Amino acid sequence: MGTKRHFRVWRGDDTGGSLEDFQVEVNEGEVVLDVIHRLQATQTPDLAVRWNCKAGKCGSCSMEINGKPRLGCMTRMSTFSDTETVTVTPLRTFPVIRDLVTNVNFNYQKARELPAFAPPKGVEPGEYRMQQVDVERSQEFRKCIECYLCQNVCHVVRDHEENKRAFSGPRFFIRAAELDMHPLDARTDRKELAQAEQGLGYCNITKCCTEVCPEHIKITDNAIIPMKERVVDRRYDPVTWLGRKIFRRDQLDEPAMAHSSSPSTEAADTSSHWHQQGPQPQAPAVGADGKLPVAELYLDRPAASSPFGDDQEFPLPPDQVRYNHPH
Ligand code: SF4
Ligand code: SF4
Ligand code: FES
Repeated sequence: MGTKRHFRVWRGDDTGGSLEDFQVEVNEGEVVLDVIHRLQATQTPDLAVRWNCKAGKCGSCSMEINGKPRLGCMTRMSTFSDTETVTVTPLRTFPVIRDLVTNVNFNYQKARELPAFAPPKGVEPGEYRMQQVDVERSQEFRKCIECYLCQNVCHVVRDHEENKRAFSGPRFFIRAAELDMHPLDARTDRKELAQAEQGLGYCNITKCCTEVCPEHIKITDNAIIPMKERVVDRRYDPVTWLGRKIFRRDQLDEPAMAHSSSPSTEAADTSSHWHQQGPQPQAPAVGADGKLPVAELYLDRPAASSPFGDDQEFPLPPDQVRYNHPH
């Protein structure tokens, strides 16, 4: 038999709603989603909540718990004190459908606007080859479970509905960065698209998105800042600037013109893109030492840190292994 705990859950729909109070049983080892399910089973059979895997992998159960965007299925009740009231509300950035369920269609629209992977010409599927280091770099971004907690927490759209038209949000900045770093992607304008079409410039690197990501993706350090730096490098690179002055826009194949020692041959060959052809970063734009603190330069590995903590070793000692059979 568990203990009784105080829950406050938002109930309502797009016309309005309010927080309702419940005393509900909580057992050892349970997560917030377990308690929501118990509320459905015992007190509020019509309470709406979206969930699927209960394993932190489908990204469905996003909600705000005591004001913080989190996954209900990955938030342990043991993280709250015994007398603490647990307040559960829907994601604030997206329109409420009912109770804890919001309409996240905004994200699917932004996903559709992002140009897909562009295969290199003359290379068939099955012939794609890339270095392991490039696979590992993009693997961090591929861990995204599309929970949209980062989208929800970003202040650019959280309190400014009017920004949604011009701003894609952090989840789609990591997708753009992943494609920009992809050695086989034939498009060379990912950075410019991020700036012009996705609203990269609206982001002022508050890192709130990184803080809430349940997959521990270093959204700002490993995707947004490198993308911003490369936009700046491209824009303010003196050779490119001179090229802009000399050539008309339609004559300027930017990376080849500005950085190739033999532009006539390399500029013509845009069919294969085995190695990223863009300019190497020039002098970074800000910072007392003349550099931006780009964490990827200092990390000894490309992926995010382990969710178990950096000093955790496996296998765990037997007394630390906990497993609750689901009966
Ligand atoms: S770092 Fe940028 S994208 Fe992330 S929450 Fe802040 S403003 Fe939004
Ligand atoms: S980047 Fe992280 S927080 Fe954002 S949608 Fe993906 S998993 Fe969720
Ligand atoms: S239910 Fe799938 S992430 Fe929570």
